[in-house]
Amino acid sequence: MAAPQAAHVVEKVIGHDDNAITAQDVSNFPDAGESDRMNALVWMGKNKVEIAQVPKPKIVEDRDVILKVTGSTVCGSDLHLLHGSILQLFKGDILGHEFCGVAELVGRQVHNVRVGKRYVASFQIACGDCFYCKKGQSSQCEKTNANAMINAMYGGRTAGGQAEYVRVPFGDVNLLELPDDVPDEKGLYLSDVLATSYHCVKDTGVQKGDSVAIFGAGPVGHMAGVFALDSGAKKIIFVDTEPRLSSIKTRIPQKYTSQVEVIDFKTVSSGITNSKTVVSQLKELCDNRGPDVALECAAGEYAKGWLHWLEIATGAETDTSEIVNEMIESVHSFGRCGITGVYVGYRGIRFIGNGQAPVHMYWKDLLAAIQNKDLDPLQMVSHRVRLEDLDKVYYMFDNKEENMHKVFVETKFSAPAAQGSPPLTRY
Ligand SMILES: NC(=O)c1ccc[n+]([C@@H]2O[C@H](COP(=O)([O-])OP(=O)(O)OC[C@H]3O[C@@H](n4cnc5c(N)ncnc54)[C@H](O)[C@@H]3O)[C@@H](O)[C@H]2O)c1
Ligand SMILES: [Zn+2]
Ligand SMILES: [Zn+2]
Repeated sequence: MAAPQAAHVVEKVIGHDDNAITAQDVSNFPDAGESDRMNALVWMGKNKVEIAQVPKPKIVEDRDVILKVTGSTVCGSDLHLLHGSILQLFKGDILGHEFCGVAELVGRQVHNVRVGKRYVASFQIACGDCFYCKKGQSSQCEKTNANAMINAMYGGRTAGGQAEYVRVPFGDVNLLELPDDVPDEKGLYLSDVLATSYHCVKDTGVQKGDSVAIFGAGPVGHMAGVFALDSGAKKIIFVDTEPRLSSIKTRIPQKYTSQVEVIDFKTVSSGITNSKTVVSQLKELCDNRGPDVALECAAGEYAKGWLHWLEIATGAETDTSEIVNEMIESVHSFGRCGITGVYVGYRGIRFIGNGQAPVHMYWKDLLAAIQNKDLDPLQMVSHRVRLEDLDKVYYMFDNKEENMHKVFVETKFSAPAAQGSPPLTRY
């Protein structure tokens, strides 16, 4: 089935909410001439992104804030957009859902955000007021669901923050002020990657003494590993391939390096075989029984994922992805499997669909951890790049060139690089 048809069926299965109380599908703004334009990274079709001059965002609703962007980055999810796996993306859409900046304009009903102050934005747009938002489970917001399916994955089609300016709906709810002692290079990552990796560990329930297999050693897997160790895990095993595995060993805080093992999935066999596999290696490393917990931080391609997801949603299939199978097979009985991408329930093993991370539940605690130096987001940051070079950076990040792990994207409005953050590379 073609992906758009699949999307339609999925929409019918999961229900399309028409209860949105904010305009989320705003991806274009009126053009008032050259002085009203800005640089932005736009999606131009499958495997094609470009830097374009587009109209600056405007206040659309009274609770909007326009942020002058001083930092953004590229996420693994952006690669799925680059590859054209995501439905309802249109040519010219501005990408980027992790960003921070200075409030430039505030709508009439914005009470807590002040012009000139520095903020990080949540990657999901939440209302702050519904059943889920009141519990901090902002990713399940009932009132900002303009399109149930796209929102479930990406928080709507709102123009993104890989740009010089961005519109943030419900600014009071979706912006967190950054204190002076937290530079953009650290605060930015509260937007998504830190909340996502923390949620994956907390929601799956990593406990003291656990051995934890982490599938995917990108920034999400990396920080999930660190949070698992912070939670008392005795051992973590990253399953990924080069160049990620070599670089992860150098990024993990030194106090933890003796507790880190790696498995290169490309150097072992897969499927039914007597040779070494990811599963057999994991068993061997964990008392021949298997890890207590497996965390999926890779997800593979969403185009593939969505079709499999459709099969799950319609009951046609229960186990689909290779990684999910490996997780089930490797954990010991009563083990726990946390999934960041696909939501499933399977056999007696407790599968925990971690869903989209509810940023608002964690970001204040994580900010406090950054402030008291318990958490250093800079361990992820491998490159500082210019917004103007982001089109080239997308392809380099996709191919893991120059060991690119997590980038900090500066704009002409950014402050000079903070201490400990990498120097600027131009492309
Ligand atoms: N649930 C959420 O709220 C949420 C939020 C952010 C990101 N995500 C998803 O989390 C995933 C990780 O994000 P990231 O920024 O770290 O992405 P990334 O692309 O930088 O890292 C993914 C890693 O998975 C590895 N991988 C691919 N196939 C694998 C396999 N078979 N076994 C083991 N590893 C494999 C890749 O080599 C890569 O290093 C992405 O798919 C992203 O879409 C989910
Ligand atoms: Zn993301
Ligand atoms: Zn809500």
